[in-house]
Amino acid sequence: KTLLLKVDAQNPDPETISQAAEIIKRGGVVAFPTETVYGLGANALDGPAVQKIFAAKGRPSDNPLIVHIAEFSQLEMLVTEVPLTARRAMEVFWPGPLTIIMPCRDDIPRTVTGGLKTVGVRMPKHPVALALIKAAKLPIAAPSANSSGKPSPTEARHVMYDLAGKIDAVIDGGPAQVGVESTVLDMTGDTPVILRPGGVTREQLEAILGHVDLDLPSVDKIIHQAPKAPGMKYRHYSPEAKLILVKPVPGKAVADIIQALADRYQSKGMKVALMVSVETASILPLEDVLCGILGHRGHLEEIAGNLFKVLREVDAQKPDVIIAEGFAEAGIGMAIMNRLTKAASQVIDQPFSSYNLNS
Ligand code: TXA
Ligand code: MG
Repeated sequence: KTLLLKVDAQNPDPETISQAAEIIKRGGVVAFPTETVYGLGANALDGPAVQKIFAAKGRPSDNPLIVHIAEFSQLEMLVTEVPLTARRAMEVFWPGPLTIIMPCRDDIPRTVTGGLKTVGVRMPKHPVALALIKAAKLPIAAPSANSSGKPSPTEARHVMYDLAGKIDAVIDGGPAQVGVESTVLDMTGDTPVILRPGGVTREQLEAILGHVDLDLPSVDKIIHQAPKAPGMKYRHYSPEAKLILVKPVPGKAVADIIQALADRYQSKGMKVALMVSVETASILPLEDVLCGILGHRGHLEEIAGNLFKVLREVDAQKPDVIIAEGFAEAGIGMAIMNRLTKAASQVIDQPFSSYNLNS
């Protein structure tokens, strides 16, 4: 029922792209690769078409969507003004993993904006995404193409796993490269504000725009509100297993803490899985422990690229607990740690000895 269309990521076949564009034009929903993650797209100007995205994902209707464009001229269909600093950001970071929140036109369907007076727009840097938008000649509203609450898909098979039978088509253009979603930057006020860290780093933004604020829910809010209200907006990327995030602790090897935790849970008869760097994996004894390798600790782009895939793979083995290594929050590390924190039910940021583990 869901059409699977394979294309070359760099040179997508125009016939296949126009087949997918036709589905979008007729009010259907199509998943497609971007440089960050796969998106689930519909005509952004067609309310009922956009509604199908929410239905397929099981997404809460008040969570607004990002609108994807392929040419600057498409901005006019969406926003009432482009602030000067926003223009500057577009010139530098588009096409690329930056979503800019701007005041929106009042003829944009409410389903896209969740009733807000603003809209998030981005020009993705992926030949398939750009070709699809150009062929449809429409702005395309697209959240990540996962079931609501699950890790974002970085491969077509992840999309099929979550949404097969619920959407019209998936364009398979191979793995997404960046691996974490776009940075969401609110540019409606005097100072730009990062609402979600992502593929463009705070450091990169500040080099061009000057000071950039951060408005992220605190770890406390993420962790402690989540169990009370599953499905509320802070619950994301949730594996089936309980995930414990071990933050880097000054003067203490993360590997020691992970080892101690793994031993503790194994001694209780629990099935333990790890998500760790190559370096940590190389010094741990890994008997009876599932181990997902994220990449090299000093190469955070590699870790970001593998993050959601490894999370899905590890979780599919049905462990009772996943222990994840944390990383420095500089550069793209901020996005990595934001996603891991949202996936976690517990965050350990002190030496292990000062913790009493429950369950
Ligand atoms: O990389 C990405 O951004 C991917 C690809 C497909 O482009 N898309 C994506 O969309 O991650 P989604 O829906 O999973 O995440 C969009 C985020 C949500 O946290 C949403 O609340 C926020 O952007 N957002 C969208 N419009 C907004 C607005 N007008 N004001 C504030 N936040 C907004
Ligand atoms: Mg998403």
